[in-house]
Amino acid sequence: MTTGAPDQLEALSELLRRLKLAARAVELHPLKPDTNQSATAEKVAGYGQPVRVVAEDEQGQRKSFVLHTASPNEFGHDRRADRADELLLSYDTYGSIPGHVRAVDVGFLLDGRFASVAGAGEPYVLTTWAEGRPYAEDLRRIAADGLAELDLRRCTALANYLATLHAEKRAQPQIYRRSIRDLLGSGEGIFGIVDGYPAGTPAAPAQRLHQIERQCLDWRWRLREREHRLARIHGDFHPFNILFGDGVELSLVDASRGCAGDPADDVAALAINWIFFAIDQPTAWGSLGPLWHLFWQTYVGASQDEELFEVVAPFLAWRGLVVANPKFYPGLSEAGRDRLLGLVERVLAARSLQLSWADDCFR
Ligand SMILES: Nc1ncnc2c1ncn2[C@@H]1O[C@H](COP(=O)(O)OP(=O)(O)OP(=O)(O)O)[C@@H](O)[C@H]1O
Ligand SMILES: [Mg+2]
Repeated sequence: MTTGAPDQLEALSELLRRLKLAARAVELHPLKPDTNQSATAEKVAGYGQPVRVVAEDEQGQRKSFVLHTASPNEFGHDRRADRADELLLSYDTYGSIPGHVRAVDVGFLLDGRFASVAGAGEPYVLTTWAEGRPYAEDLRRIAADGLAELDLRRCTALANYLATLHAEKRAQPQIYRRSIRDLLGSGEGIFGIVDGYPAGTPAAPAQRLHQIERQCLDWRWRLREREHRLARIHGDFHPFNILFGDGVELSLVDASRGCAGDPADDVAALAINWIFFAIDQPTAWGSLGPLWHLFWQTYVGASQDEELFEVVAPFLAWRGLVVANPKFYPGLSEAGRDRLLGLVERVLAARSLQLSWADDCFR
């Protein structure tokens, strides 16, 4: 039996009083994953650290509660956001299960106190404002009017920006594996994007999407031994999240995916767009094609990341599936979607990317 640290007991007492559930917390008992430590099939781990809280009301009548906090681990709980997700979900769903214990509060630890968010609605983030125009507008202009000298300088700036961003490496193999797992299986990942294709999407029949998923699964295993590639990344480096001021200075919005992963994620998120913005107006490749080649050459030169060509395929596939999805881009033609998915299949089928394959989309 442990009585618990006085400040813990005091913080819990304050919470229980605020919730009008008890007068004070008097004992804390950590709950093990398995009470029978010597049994066969002993369970030695769980995802949280549940603690039984023994409390008293004003009359000294005892009652118990269980306090759950979540622990960081490799099973998709490495981020604070994962742990908030897990516990918010418990609070939002326990009531729907007959015979299940009731969730009486949910919140965050704040300055040693329990800050409840039980009555809260949707979460929000407030950010500063960035002056500038989305790079997507540049791509539309280039597709229509051709290349200007500034466009070459901006392309170089983007490549150098990413090389600098990715220079910060991380030695956390689990985080790399998670990023590859999410690349395939998350709602925003390959499986989620494929699930978002309306049935009967022209040029994207179910069996074609299924085959693409199979190829991506093989790539997941090919990337397993590449944990050394983990770096700081933006995570959603596409032309609507990149803002340019008047010259080459850029601002970014909407960083995603925990800002840790394979640099190929950012490179593919941007690079697919030089193809996409020309896919339904092939003459535009005359202007956008040179940017595709300039970007890769500049980025690989600045980052010295030749290995990129051997790992980028599933990332290009993911981004190709996004831009070919009518949920995001309903204006794309059937022929354009077919060419994009054709490139995706070609890239996935090879061990290393050839930059000229983009040119082949426009021959
Ligand atoms: N802090 C900001 N300063 C200036 N413009 C912004 C800012 N945040 C967002 N924007 C503009 O609003 C657009 C949409 O915002 P945001 O990227 O957050 O939405 P989203 O739907 O999450 O996009 P995504 O499809 O990238 O996930 C951005 O493309 C950008 O043009
Ligand atoms: Mg955005």
